[in-house]
Amino acid sequence: MGAAPIEIEGVNHFFGEGALKRQILFDVSAEIRAGEIVIVTGPSGGGKTTLLTLIGALRHVQDGQVRVLGEDLHGASARVVGRVRKGIGYIFQAHNLLTALTAVQNVQMALYLHSDLSRTEIRRRAVEMLEAVGLGPHMDKLPKQMSGGQKQRVAIARALAGRPRIILADEPTASLDKQSGRDAVTLMHDLAKQQGVTVLLVTHDNRILDVADRIIHLEDGRLSSFTAAVAASTQHMMDMLAQHTRKGELAGHVHGLSVEQFAELLREATAECEQFLRVARKRKNQQRETKRTVSRSFRRGSTKRFTQNRGAL
Ligand SMILES: Nc1ncnc2c1ncn2[C@@H]1O[C@H](COP(=O)(O)OP(=O)(O)OP(=O)(O)O)[C@@H](O)[C@H]1O
Ligand SMILES: [Mg+2]
Repeated sequence: MGAAPIEIEGVNHFFGEGALKRQILFDVSAEIRAGEIVIVTGPSGGGKTTLLTLIGALRHVQDGQVRVLGEDLHGASARVVGRVRKGIGYIFQAHNLLTALTAVQNVQMALYLHSDLSRTEIRRRAVEMLEAVGLGPHMDKLPKQMSGGQKQRVAIARALAGRPRIILADEPTASLDKQSGRDAVTLMHDLAKQQGVTVLLVTHDNRILDVADRIIHLEDGRLSSFTAAVAASTQHMMDMLAQHTRKGELAGHVHGLSVEQFAELLREATAECEQFLRVARKRKNQQRETKRTVSRSFRRGSTKRFTQNRGAL
């Protein structure tokens, strides 16, 4: 059917004026399809948040094409921008909860944007979403009475309650422990696969890379595939190792390690390799898995299922 929910082509972006003007994004192009989960990785300052805010209609497009939910955002009117924003659930690291409102009121606030919903329906949906993220018993608490992870879950519930077609998440697991981080991304994964929601997620957290259908890498404002990025950094590492070996420093370094330090070095290297293997395997099975999951979810077809498996805090 229709076009991909996110299509960007030849996007350049600049910050600053005059002599201080600096290019941040260089000719960035990408297409993200419905139900696809794409993770954006890359070093700090590479332009990930800038790209996310352009796609989220939170920043003016300066150069290039950004089409989101069928709307062209370059030079878009306030009405178009508003329409696009309504279709997006935002999850940012600083959760921006309103401090005077309880968890359930924070989620309800987001739903008032959808003026077609009755107050009863808004309340019902807010409660359902908070239960889905395991916050049923905490929904009447104020943000200051909740932990960082709980606040992050409220932000996730708020983003999902409006039943967005796109979720934009900037480091959503940054303030979460391992299990809560895993729960949060599983929730987004289930939504993507059951309801065709498109997820674009920025992360530095290697532990969640395996939920992605595709990983893209943004470095110095330029986009590359994850494989290309891994190949480049592996090449760099091999060059360094080759130089070290020539000088005999690598052997010297290893000899100088205690048994514990050597074991730790091996553990780290093994964990990294396992992670890359998981991602590689995942990419291989990706198309088959997606097809199977989508047809399964059509048979089951409900929001309810992802309320299971959510561990309460
Ligand atoms: N409003 C702004 N004005 C000027 N420069 C900015 C602005 N926002 C970001 N930058 C600069 O643009 C570059 C990209 O920033 P961005 O926040 O997109 O990076 P990032 O990849 O999200 O980094 P991180 O992983 O640290 O969050 C950085 O050099 C940053 O200093
Ligand atoms: Mg950022």
